[in-house]
Amino acid sequence: MANKFYITTPIYYVNAAPHIGHSYTTIAADTISRYKRKQLGKENVWFLTGTDEHGQKIQKAADEAKLTPQEFVDKVVLQFKGLWNKLEITPNDFIRTTEERHIKTVQRVLEILHNKEAGGQKLIYSSKYEGWYCTPCETFWPETQITEQLCPDCKRKVEKISETNYFFRLSIYQDWLVKYIEDNVNFVSPQSRREEVLSFLRHNKLNDLCISRPKERLNWGIPLPFSPEHVTYVWFDALINYISAVGNFNEKGKYQSKWWQDDVEIVHLIGKDILRHHAIYWPILLHALGVRMPDKIFAHGWWLIDDTKMSKSRGNAINPIEMVDRYGIDTYRYFLLRDVPFGLDGNFSEQAIVKRFNGDLANDLGNLVYRTLTMIEKYYQGEVPEKGKLDEQGMVIEKLIKELPEKLAIPTEVLNFSLSLEYIWDLISLPNKYVEETKPWNLAKENKTKELKSFIRVLVDAIREVADELYPFMPKTSESIKEQLGTDRIKKGNPLFPRIDTKTKA
Ligand code: MSP
Repeated sequence: MANKFYITTPIYYVNAAPHIGHSYTTIAADTISRYKRKQLGKENVWFLTGTDEHGQKIQKAADEAKLTPQEFVDKVVLQFKGLWNKLEITPNDFIRTTEERHIKTVQRVLEILHNKEAGGQKLIYSSKYEGWYCTPCETFWPETQITEQLCPDCKRKVEKISETNYFFRLSIYQDWLVKYIEDNVNFVSPQSRREEVLSFLRHNKLNDLCISRPKERLNWGIPLPFSPEHVTYVWFDALINYISAVGNFNEKGKYQSKWWQDDVEIVHLIGKDILRHHAIYWPILLHALGVRMPDKIFAHGWWLIDDTKMSKSRGNAINPIEMVDRYGIDTYRYFLLRDVPFGLDGNFSEQAIVKRFNGDLANDLGNLVYRTLTMIEKYYQGEVPEKGKLDEQGMVIEKLIKELPEKLAIPTEVLNFSLSLEYIWDLISLPNKYVEETKPWNLAKENKTKELKSFIRVLVDAIREVADELYPFMPKTSESIKEQLGTDRIKKGNPLFPRIDTKTKA
């Protein structure tokens, strides 16, 4: 098993402010990073995020804001960095595609591929392109896919263009890729996404990838080292961030990096809309460069509002800062990771957050901690009692405490956050039930001191284990529980999750 771990988020377009969709991937990556740091040691985990700053979208947004593209991206990137700060996200690095280290690597990759041949054919060649182009999507479309001059993706009008561009010979690697995805079952995850990619590859012949844009049409990009008249296509530029941030190509064209090695597990988290770029272009690009594959490309689903896509133009994009101000970081994290299985789409609503808050957090977790602390205060003047002999229910709880870390290993490995949280909640529900059925106040009345002690102590042990396992998901809550109850003497604070009154709240 790999003893190091490298995880990435997509690099976000800085054409508009971040919304909850962006925060979703980043929170998921942060959660896994925290889990892996606990498991492998903090020096063995690398968590990368960043921003995608070139291309038509950005140039257009900058024009509209009456700023130069550089001024514009320098401004918007602060909103992303500010949000990650606010959410207390813990990336090890933040890459911007306008940084020198990135630009240099992209140009190096282009040079290497330009000088390389496969089967007697140059990997990068120039060719005249005549056909349809969707400017907002920055995508070329073959005649066969166009009806009524509309983009098959965004349904906006496409333009007829004729220009000379550079192409990367993607098509020759199609069979290799199919076999690679077939042989490596978890490479594209979840399985539904793997099927989607395989089925696409089996039914379509890959076209070579146009990797340039003429300067007269788009200026804001990385110049091709072998043709100053062209800039690099933004997706080709963007994907390379995953390696430009953590290593370099040496004189011989060999890529060297501490985080892109055989002893590192490499995971890319993405949204389902950018699956093809990551599961087709990216592996082929790496393969052509002779660089190892990542271990896993996991595509999660979308957060929708009333079953429709969230977007700036519809005016329904939700600002994560507002959510955090209203409900707190941990509630927001918990909701996103618990309410919808990672990989599926889900509806975002504040009613759903409040429901989770009042149920899982206030009634279950908050209540267990608070009632346990109250008993320790009342019966033992704040001193945590020693372990004692347990009754049957107590032993069931003790067994679960012991088994939980191992039980969580599998769902965490396959990024099933909601299932991990369900398992943790078993160790909250069971003790709550135990309190209700044991009725400790009766034990106290009947002077059953020994029973009361061991009863309370197993609750404490359960809570400590819950706090431990909860850390990657809800770091602040975990710390707060440990502070209140982590040592021999308790330090009781306010209830962790005071119920939200749904009657007064609109
Ligand atoms: N810049 C490219 C990624 C390049 S990675 C080499 C990009 N950026 S983006 O800002 O448009 O989107 C980034 C991510 O946010 C995507 O993974 C996308 O799926 C995700 N989300 C955007 N809206 C979303 C929701 N409403 N819900 C969940 N995630 C969504 O694409």
